[in-house]
Amino acid sequence: MRIKSGIEGFDVLVEGGFLQGRQYLLSGSPGSGKTTFGVQFLIAGALEGEAGGYIALSESTGTIIDDMSRYNPQIGDLIKNKKMFFIDLGPSVNYGEYDEVTNLITPDYSQQSGESPANKPPTPFTVFKEVENQVKQFGIKRLVIDSISSIRFTSQNPASEERSVGRFIRNLKNLGCTTVLLSELTKPDAYTIEQFASHGVIFLHNFMNKDGTMVRALQIIKMRGTKHDCDMRSIEFSEKGLKIGKPLKK
Ligand SMILES: Nc1ncnc2c1ncn2[C@@H]1O[C@H](COP(=O)(O)OP(=O)(O)OP(=O)(O)O)[C@@H](O)[C@H]1O
Ligand SMILES: [Mg+2]
Repeated sequence: MRIKSGIEGFDVLVEGGFLQGRQYLLSGSPGSGKTTFGVQFLIAGALEGEAGGYIALSESTGTIIDDMSRYNPQIGDLIKNKKMFFIDLGPSVNYGEYDEVTNLITPDYSQQSGESPANKPPTPFTVFKEVENQVKQFGIKRLVIDSISSIRFTSQNPASEERSVGRFIRNLKNLGCTTVLLSELTKPDAYTIEQFASHGVIFLHNFMNKDGTMVRALQIIKMRGTKHDCDMRSIEFSEKGLKIGKPLKK
């Protein structure tokens, strides 16, 4: 079954919408619209009665709600009515007692770990367990994880990091939610485990044209089981959020 993305102009590019219960990777440069896309996706579900969960790992939920309410003032009501959940799973940013004590014992900065136990970054495993709890507790059907990049760099060993990210995505598949995983797009030509493991991959681009104007675009890289558009399409932020426009001129 296809479900509406909530992004004006997107569903016609993918045979009517996302396939229910699948995992999609939305990868983009800074400020390219990842959070906006993710929140609109949850609102579209919430308005049709499907509860949505936004898992914030890198930015505070308060900031996201404030910024996104400018496009959609109904977010507050959807939260009150338990149709939208903003869940903060990021590491604590406050310096605590442990940091002060460590500082006294090892005043040499090169010897400090820089991380108190409470500030340890979340790992794929801890995030999954928490997401699983929330999904079961609140009957969440649509999920946004912001971002997979935040739980990527928690292992010293690149091979085990790849494995644990792949495992995280496979486990998410078992939760039965339609999921949009946000990620930072640093090298568009470098393939990552999350791109292979996801059912679909969408890029959001945000770059300077030769004439100095900003170009914003969306491109569907893969969409399993779907005949999809392959053009790089312009996108714009209207008063109501993100919408897709025409293909960029070649
Ligand atoms: N009211 C608005 N009208 C038009 N454009 C806006 C408005 N508010 C924000 N923007 C644009 O949206 C961008 C932020 O969008 P969003 O937060 O969805 O991006 P992001 O990819 O999640 O960013 P980040 O990489 O920081 O997480 C801003 O940098 C700005 O260009
Ligand atoms: Mg964001």
